[in-house]
Amino acid sequence: MVKLWAVLVLVAIALPGGSFSKQLRCTMELDRSCSLVGAIVNPDEIMSTSVSSSNPATLTAIQFSRASVTAIPPGMFQTFPKLETLNATAANIKQVLSNNFADAKTLQELYLGGNKIHDLPEEAFFGARRLRTLDLSNNALTLIEGTAFKRLRELKTLLLGGNSLTELQPTVFGDLSELENLELQQNELGAIGDRLFEGCTSLSKLNVSYNALKSFDMAQFERRWIFDVIDVSHNSLASVTVPSSLRQLVATGNGIRRVASGAANGSEMILLKMPHNKLTSMDDLPALEKLISLDLSFNQIREFDFASVARFGKLVLLKLDGNQLETVSNGLTAPITHLKYVHLADNQFTHLDLGVLRTVPRVLKLDLRRNRLERLLVNDLSGSYPVLVRMMLEGNRFRCEAVRALVKELKESITAYAMTRGDCRKDQKLVDGICCS
Ligand SMILES: *[C@@H]1O[C@H](CO)[C@@H](O)[C@H](O)[C@H]1NC(C)=O
Ligand SMILES: *[C@@H]1O[C@H](CO)[C@@H](O)[C@H](O)[C@H]1NC(C)=O
Ligand SMILES: *[C@@H]1O[C@H](CO)[C@@H](O)[C@H](O)[C@H]1NC(C)=O
Repeated sequence: MVKLWAVLVLVAIALPGGSFSKQLRCTMELDRSCSLVGAIVNPDEIMSTSVSSSNPATLTAIQFSRASVTAIPPGMFQTFPKLETLNATAANIKQVLSNNFADAKTLQELYLGGNKIHDLPEEAFFGARRLRTLDLSNNALTLIEGTAFKRLRELKTLLLGGNSLTELQPTVFGDLSELENLELQQNELGAIGDRLFEGCTSLSKLNVSYNALKSFDMAQFERRWIFDVIDVSHNSLASVTVPSSLRQLVATGNGIRRVASGAANGSEMILLKMPHNKLTSMDDLPALEKLISLDLSFNQIREFDFASVARFGKLVLLKLDGNQLETVSNGLTAPITHLKYVHLADNQFTHLDLGVLRTVPRVLKLDLRRNRLERLLVNDLSGSYPVLVRMMLEGNRFRCEAVRALVKELKESITAYAMTRGDCRKDQKLVDGICCS
């Protein structure tokens, strides 16, 4: 019996690439990392596969390149006790073996994106307690065990975008107290637990765009320190409540009709980007005193009064393109000097008197493209708007006889406005830089 066993071992050693044991040798690169080029390991070979290099005791970085390896070879971290970076992107990996990382004591960056992993077992990364970056994007994950990320207390970046996750265990991120950046976009998440991020006290960037969320309670981010950005674009949200500590909310392409503020004490928000939603009025927003940039383009806004801007005492950029505005009004009693960029393209103006901007004297850029403007009235352009450097007027229906006064004012100002023949429709001619008929 013993003899037979010895013979088998000898056969295995004598037949490299046989199904019994497999050696992968990596080649050193100029940057002192090591590449495993073209490695192929079949599922029945993976448990007996080992990796070698010329300097295993000191090597810190390994990457797979054009490889197909089924899993990270077990024993790899025993061979390379100083390994800090492992890049196994697109290496046809199908599973994370349990105890795969038991010896990965110095591993800081693990790239497993673009593979075919569909579940993460319990304590999947157990042992890799120095891990700072974990990339699992673009796999086939449907299941992550509740303890999969246990003890990753130094993890800062976790990338889970582009998987097939429909739900997340309530405690799955519980240990990730240093996590700063979490990507969950492009999954199929239908809900996010109200306390899912309770343990993530350092989180400042969260992307849950392109999921199937019908609601998302952001009250769990109500905290005293700043949260940088949450992206909830392309879900099915009907309303959002912005936490007072959040600086930027991106919520493109939902069905949002209402935005509320969770703040009793004011808000840190500087950027609110919500094009392609269902807001009907700027007054559907709470007062956000630090807001600098507001994008409400392609909503269902029919009326706009510059007085609404008063609730955003720092607003510089206002985008209202693609709404249903036929007119704007101005009930402001005192001038606002912070507002500099006003975008009103793709609305339904036929006539506009620029006098409506009289209390917005520092406007730099005004976009009125693709409306139905036949005339634009203006009185003392350079005196009223001395810093207006750009007015965009393409795609309107100006009447040639009605724009003479406008052209005269424009020529006496610093405002650039000129169109070219290519901007004119067939039935229009170009007169003094304005397409008209
Ligand atoms: C990992 O390797 C892939 C190619 O296999 C490369 O495109 C990518 O830039 C590498 N990532 C890092 C962080 O080095
Ligand atoms: C969130 O992910 C989407 C899809 O990958 C990307 O387009 C978007 O820029 C990301 N958002 C942020 C704030 O980085
Ligand atoms: C509001 O601010 C006051 C004074 O700065 C503070 O005592 C209170 O805790 C704050 N409330 C909230 C909900 O943050």
